Amino acid sequence: MLPWLRYIPSRFAKWKRDAQYWFIQDSLMFQRLLGTVVDDLANGVDRPSFGATIIKTQSKHGLSELEQAWLVGDMLAAGGETTSISLQWWILAMLAFPNVQARAHAELDEVVGRGRPPSFADIPFLPYIRAMVKETLRWSPIVPFGVPHASTVDDWYEGMFIPKGTICLQNVRVLNFDTKVYGENVSEFDPSRYLDEKGQVKTLMGGREEGHVSFGFGRRMCPGKHVAEGTLGIDFATLLWGMRFERPEGSQGELDVRTLVQSGPGARPVPFECKMVPRFTEAEALLNVGLNMYE
Ligand code: HEM
Repeated sequence: MLPWLRYIPSRFAKWKRDAQYWFIQDSLMFQRLLGTVVDDLANGVDRPSFGATIIKTQSKHGLSELEQAWLVGDMLAAGGETTSISLQWWILAMLAFPNVQARAHAELDEVVGRGRPPSFADIPFLPYIRAMVKETLRWSPIVPFGVPHASTVDDWYEGMFIPKGTICLQNVRVLNFDTKVYGENVSEFDPSRYLDEKGQVKTLMGGREEGHVSFGFGRRMCPGKHVAEGTLGIDFATLLWGMRFERPEGSQGELDVRTLVQSGPGARPVPFECKMVPRFTEAEALLNVGLNMYE
C-alpha cells in the first residue's frame, strides 16, 4: 500500500523483520503440507486435489518447490480465513434476525425434509439459502477495504482527477450498502432482497452475478468465489438443517452487529455468545452418520 516503505532498511523497520520471519515460517508450513501430498503420491495414494495436480504437472509449469508450496498454500490462506469470518458474521446474523433463520428452517423442511441432511444436489432448489449466501457476503464487512489496486489509465471521477497508477482502496461497506441498489433497509440482514417475485434468486447488480462487491474488482477479483459460495451454501444448509442458533438464557442488550475486529486483511465481529440447539431428536445422529462418511 505504501511502496516507498520498501527502501527503509530492515534494521530500522521491525515490521519488515517480522514479515521476513513470517515468510520463513509460512514457507516451512506450506512446504510441510505439500510434502504430505508428495509422500502420498510416492506411496501410491492419489487423491484428486489442487496440490496433487500441481505436483504431477511440474514439468509443464516449471515452478520451483517453494513456488508450488506457496501457490497451493495461498488457496488455503486466502480461502480459509475469509470463509470462517463469513460464518462468524452469519451466525451473528442468525441471532440478530431470528425471522430470517425461521424462514430458512421452513425452506429446508419443505425441500429436504428431516430424514437426511442436505447435499450439494439440493442447493439449486434452496433459493432462500442461496440468497442468504449473497446477503451474508453483502452485509458482512469481511474485507472492508478490499485489496489495493492501481488505476491503469488517467481518469476523472466526479470532478476529481485520478492519475494513472494511483493506488485505490475500495470502501466495500459503502458500496454494499448503496440504497439505490439494495433498497432502504440496507443495514438489515434480509436475504429476500435477492429473490424475485417468483422466489428465485436475482443478482441486483447488472454484470455481477454475485450481487455485491465483496469479492473485489478487475482481473484479480477473487478466483475462489465459486468455492466460497459453494462452501457457504452447504454450510448454511447443513447447520440450519440440524440446529437452531439462539442467544443463551440471560443474555441482555442488543447484539453488536457494527463493530469490526480487524484480524489480518479480514474483519471479524466482536466475540458473542451463541447456543446451538438440535432442531429435532434425530438431527444429531444423522449428522454424525454424514460425518463418518468422510472419515
Ligand atoms: C467468503 C469468502 C471469500 C471472500 C470474501 C474473498 C474475497 C477476496 C477479495 C476481496 C480478494 C481480492 C480481490 C481484488 O484484488 O480485488 C480475493 C482474492 C483472492 N481470493 Fe478470495 N475470497 C473468499 C474466498 C476465497 C476462497 C475460498 C479461495 C480459494 C479457494 C480464495 C482465493 C483467493 C485468491 C488466490 C486471491 C488472490 C487473487 C489474486 O490476487 O490474483 N478466496 N478474495
